Amino acid sequence: MKNPFYLKPLPLAASFCNREKEIEDLVRHAKNCTNVVLSSPRRFGKTSLVKRVQKILKKKNVEIIYIDFFGVASIEEVASKLAAGIYSIVYKEENLLKKTLKFFLSLRPVIKPDPETGISMTMEVIRGKNGPELLEETMKGLSDFLAASRKKYNVAIDEFQEITELKESLSIEGIMRTYIQHQQNVSYFFIGSRRRILSDIFNNKKRAFYKSAINYSLPALPSDATVKYIIDMFKRYGKSCSKDIAKKIYEVTKGYPYYLQKLSYYIFDIIKHVVRNKELHQGIMELLNEETMIFEVMLQNLKPGQISFLYALAKEPIITPFNIDYLTRHRLGSIGGIQSAIKKLVSLDYIEKTPSGWKVIDPIFALWLRKKEIIE
Ligand SMILES: Nc1ncnc2c1ncn2[C@@H]1O[C@H](COP(=O)(O)OP(=O)(O)OP(=O)(O)O)[C@@H](O)[C@H]1O
Ligand SMILES: [Mg+2]
Repeated sequence: MKNPFYLKPLPLAASFCNREKEIEDLVRHAKNCTNVVLSSPRRFGKTSLVKRVQKILKKKNVEIIYIDFFGVASIEEVASKLAAGIYSIVYKEENLLKKTLKFFLSLRPVIKPDPETGISMTMEVIRGKNGPELLEETMKGLSDFLAASRKKYNVAIDEFQEITELKESLSIEGIMRTYIQHQQNVSYFFIGSRRRILSDIFNNKKRAFYKSAINYSLPALPSDATVKYIIDMFKRYGKSCSKDIAKKIYEVTKGYPYYLQKLSYYIFDIIKHVVRNKELHQGIMELLNEETMIFEVMLQNLKPGQISFLYALAKEPIITPFNIDYLTRHRLGSIGGIQSAIKKLVSLDYIEKTPSGWKVIDPIFALWLRKKEIIE
């Protein structure tokens, strides 16, 4: 029997756990042409959610554009990705394609068939303009294109915070905002997982995007719906997982969609018919082994004091990390050292402050840290 859980990105047709409210909220915001900043820790399901929201929007006659800024390396590439987004919806209609060419004078689309995705779209810069000029022209073209259309649009920009890695980031923000604020028939979803960086872009008075979108933070999956989802998936695909074990899977993965899929995948793979505690543990060990390389890399550029603080938080989340008992118990050194560790680890989105205290965000990373400390 095929494994119903996924290690790869979730196809649109695959069964989706919960998120009814989030889908409804985002569809509504898009239809109201409201801009949204969608943020969460890594692998919480932002991209999968937006793809599903866009599928619904398309059925409701909203034109959808999905752009991924991951790894964007220059201001020219930002411009190209934005223009490619528009071309991705017009390239099939010759008339529309011809009209669109007039909006983007310095960029020309190169469209090739692609065995996996249907087509591949790249942009060629055909006029000598500097980066900011090219982005300005592209944003103007985008605005003119939208103004000339009677339709509604939804533009999702994934990994939006990547623009802050570029040296011209402030001018990119300025140019984009200038045009976006006058566009009427469009909603933008700005998506990202580096929450501190994203929040700075949209909530800092000195930045161009200040208060230009509502903040929407995606929570972990809720317990009841997820437990039901796990039981159903095993059952539908000819195997069985009890409520008790499904709850344990939830407890380990804490509603983190990526780990929910991965752990369930391993367990489904190991068992013949019924999951028992033994296979649950085997699955967890396999998951930890598989993630080890990524976790090692996460520790690589940290100072020893920062790593010690991570170990401490993994073992004992705490409301008051500067408490002398806590510092002594975990051999953490000075208060100044903890202050700078917090700053660094928050900026990397490794830790966060919750109502129940400071904790390591990623539950499997925390579990790995606890096990690693015991072994060392
Ligand atoms: N609602 C869901 N039901 C079941 N599985 C889900 C759900 N949402 C996400 N997943 C699983 O989690 C994985 C990670 O999701 P996704 O890539 O959408 O997260 P992300 O927040 O965009 O991650 P990143 O921060 O790395 O971009 C998906 O490949 C999918 O397997
Ligand atoms: Mg994503």
